Amino acid sequence: MILAITGPTSGIGAVTFRKLTPHFEKVLLLARNPDKAKEMISGLPMEQQAKAEYVHVDLASMDSIIQSIKTIQSKVSHIDVLINNAGGIFHEKSVTEDGFELTLSANHLGHFLLTNKLMPWLLKSPNPKVINVSSEAHKAAKVNFDDLSYHKSKYSAFTAYANVKLFNILFSKSLAEKYEAQGLQAFSLHPGVVKTNFASEAGGIFKLLWIFAKPFMITAEQGAQTSIFLGKNEISAAQNGSYFKNSKPAKTSSSANSKSMREKLWYNSERLLEKWL
Ligand SMILES: NC(=O)c1ccc[n+]([C@@H]2O[C@H](COP(=O)([O-])OP(=O)(O)OC[C@H]3O[C@@H](n4cnc5c(N)ncnc54)[C@H](OP(=O)(O)O)[C@@H]3O)[C@@H](O)[C@H]2O)c1
Repeated sequence: MILAITGPTSGIGAVTFRKLTPHFEKVLLLARNPDKAKEMISGLPMEQQAKAEYVHVDLASMDSIIQSIKTIQSKVSHIDVLINNAGGIFHEKSVTEDGFELTLSANHLGHFLLTNKLMPWLLKSPNPKVINVSSEAHKAAKVNFDDLSYHKSKYSAFTAYANVKLFNILFSKSLAEKYEAQGLQAFSLHPGVVKTNFASEAGGIFKLLWIFAKPFMITAEQGAQTSIFLGKNEISAAQNGSYFKNSKPAKTSSSANSKSMREKLWYNSERLLEKWL
């Protein structure tokens, strides 16, 4: 069994990586920081270190993702589980080299491109799974599909984050719908409110609230439990496409359940990524 995971260098992803590695024959760390990735690998028990390999992926650069696909395909024959865990919230609006707002690129578009490009490799597995780390913040989404990168409308860090976490759920359901017949399962999840590096680039009221909430937050070990559960267990076909919390299917907002939102997101993501898809 082969696992690939984004954002394995910090917080929830780091624990997910460490806890899942013993269950897999090979694990690819899809990360942007080589030093952190190498540190993660050298932190594994000696006998597990040879299983883990670093692949450079910067989700804020579509060219870097395209490059990583070639590297991944040269390293492994297929992928059984892909965990799209990387993400973040950013106080100031920033635009990537591709012209996308950073929250959109790092949390959604990058994973959309990565997953679609890896689809032939996933479909070579008898039971492929894609797991997208979302958030309860999706319930605060206010999406304008005509301006996904906030070129015309005012940028709010929290709304931008809520929107992409909604996209993680919509994307998971779309993947389940489109590829179920070929054996693929796709899930999204809320990890809890977790004490990690998350929000280190946030600001204003959100950052203040986050600092005050820290004593009440769960640990990364606890926050990784649902990702680990979905990554290593067989999940019933009836739950394909579902959103999980505390390792159980959970209720989403009505937007997250909307077929028209799923279709709009898929259409607009393909349109924005046309050059790379
Ligand atoms: N913490 C929470 O309470 C909470 C709640 C709900 C959902 N989540 C979600 O959980 C996931 C993991 O977050 P976390 O709390 O563990 O935060 P974290 O400690 O900040 O970890 C984020 C990870 O994403 C990686 N990353 C960020 N931007 C990237 C980019 N452009 N390209 C490649 N990798 C990138 C980071 O890499 P570097 O190490 O190189 O920075 C890091 O490995 C995120 O999707 C987040 O939205 C978190």
